[in-house]
Amino acid sequence: MRLLLPTDVPFDTDPLDDEGLAQVYRYPDGTGTERSWLRANFVSTLDGAATGPDGRSGTINTHADRQVFALLRALSDVIVVGAGTARVEGYRAPVTSSRWRWVREQAGQTGQPAMLVVTRSGDVPPLLAQEREQAGDVLLLTSRSAPSEAVDLARSSLGEDRVLLCGDDSVDFHVARQELADRGLRRLLCEGGPRLMHDLTAQDAVDELCLTITPSLVAGEHPRILAGPELWADLVPHTLIEADGSLIGRWVRPDAL
Ligand SMILES: NC(=O)c1ccc[n+]([C@@H]2O[C@H](COP(=O)([O-])OP(=O)(O)OC[C@H]3O[C@@H](n4cnc5c(N)ncnc54)[C@H](OP(=O)(O)O)[C@@H]3O)[C@@H](O)[C@H]2O)c1
Repeated sequence: MRLLLPTDVPFDTDPLDDEGLAQVYRYPDGTGTERSWLRANFVSTLDGAATGPDGRSGTINTHADRQVFALLRALSDVIVVGAGTARVEGYRAPVTSSRWRWVREQAGQTGQPAMLVVTRSGDVPPLLAQEREQAGDVLLLTSRSAPSEAVDLARSSLGEDRVLLCGDDSVDFHVARQELADRGLRRLLCEGGPRLMHDLTAQDAVDELCLTITPSLVAGEHPRILAGPELWADLVPHTLIEADGSLIGRWVRPDAL
């Protein structure tokens, strides 16, 4: 793994060791105490596919991408995921890998990151609706238009205070970010999927995109990392790493830093 951008860092960039990698991905100063920061993380093939032949992202990612994926989780206070991705990918409570536990300890982050599932239907993905002790700290984010039976069910399986209703007809992500910040959850990591990423971007709620481009072409019918009606958002390159042919980068909103 070698760091191509930025070039003016005070540590070895080739190879980039774990401390250097954690430094490259640390949340911006002030995040965690005063400001909240939403980073999204995706993987894509060279021809833009966000899934492999089995309809999941696990078949297009690489070893280097998995390393960064695990680090990003370790750095976060809460993992934000669309209910579709949680269902398709069989999301369970996150467990920080032993390799990256020191990152949480160094940042004073106790325990594991929480998991926030975003849904319109209000249905908690099955593996996260289990007994609270098994599922970990799971929160549900929906709007006041979600079916009340589903919301009641979610409250009884996750806990009264674990269901956030932000927005009337649809989820207001800025209100949600404030609610999370009020709970001390300011380092946000969104792991998709493409429809959620579209809506977050449309509301100008994403500060940063972490994207791994894997060195493969797959053709076929696959979603891209955003799915939904046309929109436009500009990002500026911040970081670029090369590892075994994968390009792993961070792009940020021009006015975010
Ligand atoms: N390449 C990658 O890095 C990557 C990352 C993540 C996922 N994926 C792939 O993407 C596919 C899933 O795509 P997807 O677009 O269906 O995933 P998604 O965005 O995670 O799921 C869509 C569902 O999430 C909820 N949702 C999304 N936006 C919402 C909003 N604004 N407000 C309220 N709820 C919202 C809704 O849940 P309800 O149905 O409960 O209402 C919606 O049906 C899978 O194949 C997965 O493997 C790839």
